[in-house]
Amino acid sequence: MNKQLDQIAEHFRDARRIVALTGAGASAESGIPTFRDALTGLWARFRPEELATPEAFAAHPDRVTQWYESRRQGVLACQPNQGHSVLAAMEEWAESSGRHFSMVTQNVDGLHQRAGSRNVLELHGSLLRWRGCESGNTVQLPKKAQTEFPIRSVSGEMLRPDVVWFGEALPETVFSAALQATAQADVFLTIGTSSVVYPAAGLIDIALEAGAVTIEINPEETPFSGRVDHALALSSGRCLQGIFDRL
Ligand code: APR
Repeated sequence: MNKQLDQIAEHFRDARRIVALTGAGASAESGIPTFRDALTGLWARFRPEELATPEAFAAHPDRVTQWYESRRQGVLACQPNQGHSVLAAMEEWAESSGRHFSMVTQNVDGLHQRAGSRNVLELHGSLLRWRGCESGNTVQLPKKAQTEFPIRSVSGEMLRPDVVWFGEALPETVFSAALQATAQADVFLTIGTSSVVYPAAGLIDIALEAGAVTIEINPEETPFSGRVDHALALSSGRCLQGIFDRL
């Protein structure tokens, strides 16, 4: 494994453009339940489709916003983990040495930004941002837990979480920036994602086609484990630290 980490660090040093894609596994060490794990307790009786779709919101805005608010409070109670901190340090290392580093995430927990990452592309939006259903205006909710559902702005407009629901398109500018960065990447890391949800998982195909050095960090096999250059069956924090210590 050490030899592999040495090789990967060499690839980082040779690279001009580096892209990291994260999924729920990158936040696991912060104690954030994955999307499906969040369907526990009083939410266990619902399927994701009954809570994370425009139809569910239209039918039960109170229930849907209560679930997202409970997840927002859960995220605010957690801290970024070692993996988040190392990815922020990698971005700093890259940018200060004339390289470019793109942090692309499927996660909606805002932990990359809290760890110090600056150039974060949130493919699925953020639990920490809500927006007016009519106006589309972004609203930063206060940290304290909301108790009235559905949640409304001070002007009385109903708010929804600024996340991508099943059946909704990814934010156009964010996804095209991620596509462009991936197509030009010299090194592409995919960290803590089951790599089965498209179009996000399609970025890995693009990195492979573009000839980037591809590195997967996931204790479990994914559909890409046999296709990437380096499949590291390790947890994200320890593995990323091992690479960074060699830069
Ligand atoms: N380090 C690295 N990987 C980990 C760790 C860890 N400590 N713990 C778990 N994993 C891996 C798991 O093996 C799994 O492959 O993280 C992956 C999490 O997979 P999912 O729960 O499917 O999360 P994700 O891939 O982000 O899902 C993609 O689907 O649920 C929807 O919109 C939601 O953005 C999400 C998308």
